[in-house]
Amino acid sequence: MKRVLITGVAGFLGSHLADRFIKEGYMVVGMDNLITGDLKNIEHLFKLKDFEFYHHDVSKYVAVHGTLDYILHFASPASPIDYLKIPIQTLKVSSLGTHNLLGLAKAKSSRILVASTSEVYGDPLVHPQNEDYWGNVNPIGPRGVYDEAKRFQEAITMAYHTYHGLETRIVRIFNTYGPRMRLNDGRALPAFIGQALRGEDLTVFGDGSQTRSFCYVDDLVEGIYRLLLSDYQYPVNIGNPDEISIRDFAEEIIKLTGTKQKIITKPLPKDDPKQRQPDITRAKKILNWEPKINRSEGLKMTFEYFKTLTKEELYNSAHRFA
Ligand SMILES: NC(=O)c1ccc[n+]([C@@H]2O[C@H](COP(=O)([O-])OP(=O)(O)OC[C@H]3O[C@@H](n4cnc5c(N)ncnc54)[C@H](O)[C@@H]3O)[C@@H](O)[C@H]2O)c1
Repeated sequence: MKRVLITGVAGFLGSHLADRFIKEGYMVVGMDNLITGDLKNIEHLFKLKDFEFYHHDVSKYVAVHGTLDYILHFASPASPIDYLKIPIQTLKVSSLGTHNLLGLAKAKSSRILVASTSEVYGDPLVHPQNEDYWGNVNPIGPRGVYDEAKRFQEAITMAYHTYHGLETRIVRIFNTYGPRMRLNDGRALPAFIGQALRGEDLTVFGDGSQTRSFCYVDDLVEGIYRLLLSDYQYPVNIGNPDEISIRDFAEEIIKLTGTKQKIITKPLPKDDPKQRQPDITRAKKILNWEPKINRSEGLKMTFEYFKTLTKEELYNSAHRFA
């Protein structure tokens, strides 16, 4: 039985990846320090004999017993509200944490895939963004702690590949959504759905003309799975190119949820990217991958999940680090 280590396993993406690898017949070793994750996301896995859990901070030395075929490094705060509140941990997990996991991969002769992000493109000057674009990032801006840590992560991962011959994979993930997102993590989709379910107006930042492209989590997981098993070591964008303005997106959520509330606006945060759309030509060519789930289907499945939250979860809007 193949063994895979997934860091950040109690988070949104890590928990979905764990489900997929269990389904594919792998033994999953999950690791998380629970700084932004929640054991609730993986509680169904604890009763399985194919799952083990390490409560551990990957920015500190990482030791795992036994063999590891694959390592997927997904530990990192991922929403702006998180990384603005815990900037040093954010910098550490993608730099020191990645270094620790590359070292582990070398020691265990494992293939490692690291979770990078569309944020490496910053506020992009080319549109849509393909992997050859180097980005437009403000290193000392508020988002720099995340963006630059991820850029360092890519650099050290490539260095381990070229210098040590390690088998590495880099996925650049664009905005992804689905069940198990946190309501209060500051991202547009859970914020809008939470506001609709609580009967509050939907808050759009700026005039709402900024665009995003949202990928349903099952499509993303499929892309990551294919990339891991491919022999391609350069970065690959995985995301859904179907672009929408934030204002139109808020309108879609109003329709979906049937809320009678309206849209209100607040000032745009600093360095908020104006446009985001992945060019997925490379993923199509190399992985034969493209998203299959359209936004209206994905939003319905996500809304079903949010409807199962308790009143307490719905109204507990206090942020973890507030
Ligand atoms: N969700 C997206 O749209 C998106 C987009 C681009 C990139 N990503 C990347 O995917 C990964 C997962 O994102 P997510 O949306 O699931 O976020 P998340 O916050 O839901 O999950 C991250 C998990 O990592 C854990 N973690 C953080 N620091 C840790 C540390 N030092 N040691 C151990 N565990 C730690 C958290 O407790 C949490 O469970 C991140 O690397 C993120 O940068 C996500």
